[in-house]
Amino acid sequence: MVPTMADLELTDDVPPEADDGVWLTCIECGETFAPFDAIRYTCDDCDGLLEVRYADLPTFDEFEGRGVWRYNAALPFEEGVTLPEGDTPLHRVPRLEDDVGVDALRVKHEGMNPTGSFKDRGMTVGVRVAQEVGVDRLACASTGNTSAALAAYGARGGMETLVLLPAGKVAAGKIAQASLHGARILEVDGNFDQCLDIVQDLAARGEAYLLNSLNPFRLEGQKTIGLEIMESFHADHGEYPDRIVLPVGNAGNTAALYKCFRELVKAGAITEDQVPKLTGVQAEGAAPMVEAIEEGAEDTTRWDEVETRATAIRIGNPVNAPKALPGIRATGGTAVAVSDKEITAAQRDLAGEGVGVEPASAASVAGLRKLRREGEVDGSESVVCLTTGHLLKDPDAAAEAGAEPEPVPNDTDAILDIIDDGSSSVGKSVRRQAGKVADSPSLPALVAGGLGLAYLYRKLRSKR
Ligand code: F0G
Repeated sequence: MVPTMADLELTDDVPPEADDGVWLTCIECGETFAPFDAIRYTCDDCDGLLEVRYADLPTFDEFEGRGVWRYNAALPFEEGVTLPEGDTPLHRVPRLEDDVGVDALRVKHEGMNPTGSFKDRGMTVGVRVAQEVGVDRLACASTGNTSAALAAYGARGGMETLVLLPAGKVAAGKIAQASLHGARILEVDGNFDQCLDIVQDLAARGEAYLLNSLNPFRLEGQKTIGLEIMESFHADHGEYPDRIVLPVGNAGNTAALYKCFRELVKAGAITEDQVPKLTGVQAEGAAPMVEAIEEGAEDTTRWDEVETRATAIRIGNPVNAPKALPGIRATGGTAVAVSDKEITAAQRDLAGEGVGVEPASAASVAGLRKLRREGEVDGSESVVCLTTGHLLKDPDAAAEAGAEPEPVPNDTDAILDIIDDGSSSVGKSVRRQAGKVADSPSLPALVAGGLGLAYLYRKLRSKR
């Protein structure tokens, strides 16, 4: 890592405000605050972003158990409001790995969390903090997943939840979740950034506790993605990954991963050379972070007009940019924009490996492909792509990207004619295998044989 901005450096000084070794530091002016004495999301003095800091930082051997709370030695509490979350799979994707052309490719599927996205990791900590500071109404602005997670964790914690969504721009699965978990859903005639402006206003007026990623405690939960990646990739591959590629919206996750790695280095658990290159991917129609990286800017410039099929990352004002941009730069990473067409192609690629994700998640793979094609990513690299949300979050996008259902008559023979006429080589090979069970004793052949025999049996019975 090249030197970081001074204000993101983790120091050894424990301020008098620390409570049980935990405190908040402003990343802009360095002011420190007690963690739970008052509700604050940004610095009282300069309005800069806050970061949670600890007197003691753990190494890997201090973690035990599973899921997010395995990492409680790196979190402000022993346990939280849990469903439980984390412990998501790190998939091998051998065909995609070959096709993209990198030494090793793994997919960390955060869609396997309880509400189907990585937001659950932030909420298990965030809602626990809400209990600590004694609030009863929780609120967020959302492109969908945050609202689903807040609704579920708020319900679990017995609290009222209020979610503000950009009207007409949130995928069906996410609204259904927020609704069934009992959130009050307010659809705003505006985009996500405008929803967040309003929720910040409500929070400033004391009307609700804000649980967007501006809340530094949410990012504490999300940094456990990095801890899991490091542990599981090392267990699988014998070393840490060279690069982590992730979709970027508000840049909360990018900021959380960078914090994870700064803490691991500070604890002496890894060296600076072992920190993966943080590589952010945005949709072409909503790419202020990519613009800032390309221009070498310290912050992003707000995009008022944003559009992409990946509605989860349809964001023009990434509030965590001051934390995330230094992370991308210091780790030697980069940021890249991809088209909606590239996102859909990557969504199909992942589905072809059995990994079902929503469009925003597929942006990570689309971005890796593009960077590999452009030579920015070397073929010798080991890479983890983060897929942030489940396929069923956005059923309409999945149906559009997938195959059309074919209407068929209610008759087996007619269906056989249709699948034989079409491109269904699978059915033919199943029936061919049925006659060859004896010389092909492999499991698939036996299954195929069984299916074929069952088919012949049904056919004979129907002729009687
Ligand atoms: N992927 C998915 C599926 C998301 O839902 C989000 C953000 C991101 C990536 C981007 O993460 O903001 O940390 O850079 N969704 C938020 C929401 C904004 O409201 O659900 P980020």
